[in-house]
Amino acid sequence: MKGIILAGGSGSRLSPLTKVTSKQLLPIYNKPMIIYPLETLLSAGIKDILIIVAPDHAGDFLKLLGSGSQFDCKFTYEIQDKPEGLAQAFLIGKNFIGNDNVTLILGDNLYEDNFSDSINSFESGGRVFVKEVTDPERFGVAEFDQNNKVISIEEKPQNPKSNFAVTGMYIYDHSVIEKTLNLTPSSRGELEITDLNNLYLHEGKLDVAQVEGKWLDTGTFESLHEAIIFARNRELSK
Ligand code: G1P
Repeated sequence: MKGIILAGGSGSRLSPLTKVTSKQLLPIYNKPMIIYPLETLLSAGIKDILIIVAPDHAGDFLKLLGSGSQFDCKFTYEIQDKPEGLAQAFLIGKNFIGNDNVTLILGDNLYEDNFSDSINSFESGGRVFVKEVTDPERFGVAEFDQNNKVISIEEKPQNPKSNFAVTGMYIYDHSVIEKTLNLTPSSRGELEITDLNNLYLHEGKLDVAQVEGKWLDTGTFESLHEAIIFARNRELSK
């Protein structure tokens, strides 16, 4: 299993915080944001990790994270020139992934859960993790049938069909590269991870698991603040 942390994007919703640095380098209590998703991958035993960053502050990521030796793992770096979608990570990471399975985690997502079992038991297809939220319109949203089976996923719907958001960690087999090559950009000009998940879903190959513990996407000032409180409480309870 390989890992990818996607830390691209301009973070415009968090301006002016993101005028001088990258969103994923902002402090979440006592650590830069990207360290949290990194720890999620490391605690699941992933040691070969591609870090995809936007061009603007690429050097700062290198300065913070280095080769990976201090984390007992190996980092590879790539640049995402423009924010053209989460699924673009698999085209940028094509050679890195090769014939392996891959876990993508977004550089602004914080999880309390340990995903060792989900990652180690993964064989093929795709696996996503949903969490009940009060503001589903901000996310990819799962629609369930009467047997509680997911039948579709919609990206940021105006009228969400459930309160279950698809969170920012995704496990795929290497067919993800070919599937991404067949995607066309959405109306916002992005290769959408939701389109990719729907491809796996329609092939009957998408497994949907639930996030048990806390999950935070730090895309807004409110959720950023919540993440800092969460990280502080967790640190102080150690
Ligand atoms: C992205 C995805 C969305 C997912 C979310 C999780 O949204 O497009 O499906 O629910 O990450 O954080 P974005 O961060 O681009 O708003």
